[in-house]
Amino acid sequence: LADVWTVPLLSGKRVLITAGATFEAIDPVRGITNISSGQMGMALARACRAAGASVSLVYGQIQTPLAAGMAFAEQVSSADEMLAAVQRLLPHQDVFIAVAAVADYKVRNRSEHKLKKQAGQKVPVIELTENPDILATVAGRPDAPFCVGFAAESEHVLEHARAKRLKKGVPLLVANEVSQAMGKATNQVILLDDEQETVLPQMSKDDTAIAIIERLAQLLVQR
Ligand code: CTP
Ligand code: CA
Repeated sequence: LADVWTVPLLSGKRVLITAGATFEAIDPVRGITNISSGQMGMALARACRAAGASVSLVYGQIQTPLAAGMAFAEQVSSADEMLAAVQRLLPHQDVFIAVAAVADYKVRNRSEHKLKKQAGQKVPVIELTENPDILATVAGRPDAPFCVGFAAESEHVLEHARAKRLKKGVPLLVANEVSQAMGKATNQVILLDDEQETVLPQMSKDDTAIAIIERLAQLLVQR
């Protein structure tokens, strides 16, 4: 990736990226997570670095190596922890890219001790409560950086992605069909912004990241 660009498209920009899967504890040894591998987030982190940006990374569970050359990197567990880390790093960021697969819900009745099987075979009930939406929270700040979101959909990708972009108030949204993306080495995405919708071919996550950054850089110049 080192010499993809003759002109470093994000030179001097500070970029904050979330990546990987969050983990919501049920008890000290169990939890709720998802199949995100962190590969797309790490590909974007590497590509932003190659484009000359100073990159900060907040990541959850990953099944891929951490991107090298980061200005800052912190691993977190839950969505609440991810939001706290993002808010601490936010001032003075130019761009925020939310790639993490954040759990929409956390466990309300989390147990301090390991749950035991009940003699009378009562099945435990796990109650859920909503997590904060990190991307929407960042995009709604008066000092919001330029926000890039992802949309993971399993059906009606374009319709859901259009609605999601407007609802969250993000200028650039990357939509993908989950079976084409999560946990895989390649991706096939659609880029949605105020001006255009671009269907990209199926390609490596590094090449997908490069295409996202090229559009991001165009939109930053126009801003
Ligand atoms: N996101 C986030 N915080 C959450 C949930 C999602 O920051 N609590 C971000 C993701 O990182 C992604 C975008 O929001 O950039 C969209 O995530 P997605 O799960 O596709 O959409 P949701 O808004 O959670 O809606 P739903 O899961 O119901 O489709
Ligand atoms: Ca979600």
